[in-house]
Amino acid sequence: MSGPGDDRADERHDHDDLQDLARRHLWMHFTRMARAPELDWPVIASGDGCHVTDTAGRRYLDGLSGLFTSQLGYGRRELAEVAAEQAGRMHYFPLWSHAHPPAIELAARLAGLAPGDLNRVFLTVSGSESVESALKLARQFHRANGEPGRYKVISRVGSYHGTTMGALAITGLAQFREPFEPLPSGFLKVPNCNAFRPAFPGLSGEDLTDALIASVEQQILAEGAHTVAAVFVEPLQNAGGCLPPPTDTYYAKLRAVCDRHGVLLVSDEVICAYGRLGTMFGCERYGYQPDMITTAKGLTSGYSPLGAVLVSDRLMEPFLADPRASFTHGITFGGHPVSCAVALANLDIFEREGVVDHVDRHRHTFRALLEDLRDIPIVGDVRGEGYFWALELVKDQDTRARFDRDEVEPLLRGLVGPRLLELGLIARADDRGDPVLQFAPPLVAGPAELEELAGITRKVLEEASATLR
Ligand SMILES: Cc1ncc(COP(=O)(O)O)c(C=O)c1O
Repeated sequence: MSGPGDDRADERHDHDDLQDLARRHLWMHFTRMARAPELDWPVIASGDGCHVTDTAGRRYLDGLSGLFTSQLGYGRRELAEVAAEQAGRMHYFPLWSHAHPPAIELAARLAGLAPGDLNRVFLTVSGSESVESALKLARQFHRANGEPGRYKVISRVGSYHGTTMGALAITGLAQFREPFEPLPSGFLKVPNCNAFRPAFPGLSGEDLTDALIASVEQQILAEGAHTVAAVFVEPLQNAGGCLPPPTDTYYAKLRAVCDRHGVLLVSDEVICAYGRLGTMFGCERYGYQPDMITTAKGLTSGYSPLGAVLVSDRLMEPFLADPRASFTHGITFGGHPVSCAVALANLDIFEREGVVDHVDRHRHTFRALLEDLRDIPIVGDVRGEGYFWALELVKDQDTRARFDRDEVEPLLRGLVGPRLLELGLIARADDRGDPVLQFAPPLVAGPAELEELAGITRKVLEEASATLR
C-alpha cells in the first residue's frame, strides 16, 4: 500500500540515502550490525496482496507474513480507514479503571470466538507482553486462590516465548537467554516434540508422546506440584522448525497431567492464533482446552500493534470474590482504541472472506507442494500444519546427519538466505537450532502464491545442494 507519506519519503530519500541512514542510525532487532555497512538491506516500502516492494523497486513474495503477522496481506485500505476514523474520534484512552467501546466490543468478540470458557480478555500491545501478562496472572491467580507457593513455570526446550524478562525466562533457547543471565529462577524446561530428532532416541508415535508427557509429570513431581504454576506451550512450536505434537493424543494427555496436579495450561498462540493452522485458534487444530491463550500478531494482521490474553472464567473467580482484589498489572497502550478498532475490522474481514476456511481448504495443497521438495538431497524433513511449515536441511537424507556447525552459517546466511531474496521470496532461514527454512505466508495466499513459493524454494535448494556436492 503506498500513500502520501511514502511518496514524501521517496522524494526525501532515494534508496541509497535510506540505506546510508539505516546503516548509521537504525538498530535492527536480532540483527548482526557489524556487517551492516557492506550490506544492501531490503527496505520494504509498500505492498499489495501477498507481495511487498522495496525502495530499489524489487518485488518479493512475503513467505513469512512480515513476522507471522500479516494474515490478510498488504494494501487493505479498509483497515487503514478504520484506524484513521477511530484516531479521529477518540485516539487514546487507557483501560486502567476506564474502558472504551472498541476494547469492550473486541473483548466480547474474542470471548465469543474462543473455545470453551475463555470468556475474559486482557489486552496488551505485543506477544511478549501477552506472555508476560499470562505468567503474572498465573502466579497471582494461585496466590489469590490460596496457593501462594505455586510460582514455577514449565516450558519446552528450544521454544521462543518473547523477549521481556519473564517471557525470556520461559523461552527455551539458551543463546537468547545467556546474555541476560541471571534470569529469575523457577523456569524449568522439558523436552520438545521434535519427532525427527526425538529427545528419546528410537521412540516415535504414541511411545514418544508418552515419554514426553511422562517427562512433564516427572518434572512437576520432582519440583513438588504445590510449587508449579503453569505449563506454557505453543500448539505447533515455532523455534526448532514447526514441531507438531507427535500424535493426536499428546495434548489430551498433557491436559490430564496439568489437571492432575492443579497446574494451569497456557497455549502460547502468538503465531498459531487467528487462522494460521486453519482453525481460528491453534488449540482447536489439536483439540485441547487451555486455561489461557496468549495472542498478538495476526489479531490485527499487523495494521496496528495489539495483543490479547484470553482467560478462563475460573481464573477470574478469586478476583470477583474479593472486593479488594485486582490483577496488579497494566500497560499504558494495552488495548489501544485504534488497534482494537482495527482488530474488529480484521475479524470482520476474516468472517466475510472465510479466511480460516480458506487456509483449512488449501493447507493440503501447501503440504503437498512442500512434501514434493523431498527429492532435493539437502531436504531432510518437511513438517508443519496449516500455513506454517519448515524444511529441515541435512547433510545426508538417509542418516539424517547434521551439517557441522561451521557449515550451517555459510549455507543459510551465505547461500540460501541471499539467493531466496534475489529470486524474490522472503522466508526464514533459521539457524537457532538445526537449520530450517520456514514459511508462513499470508492467509489469503492461494495456489498461485503457494506454487510461486515452492518453485523459488526448489530452485534455491537445488542450487545449494549442487554447490555442496
Ligand atoms: C510463540 C511466541 N510467543 C511470544 C512472542 C513474542 O511476541 P512479540 O515479538 O510480539 O513480543 C513470539 C514472537 O514471535 C512468539 O512466536
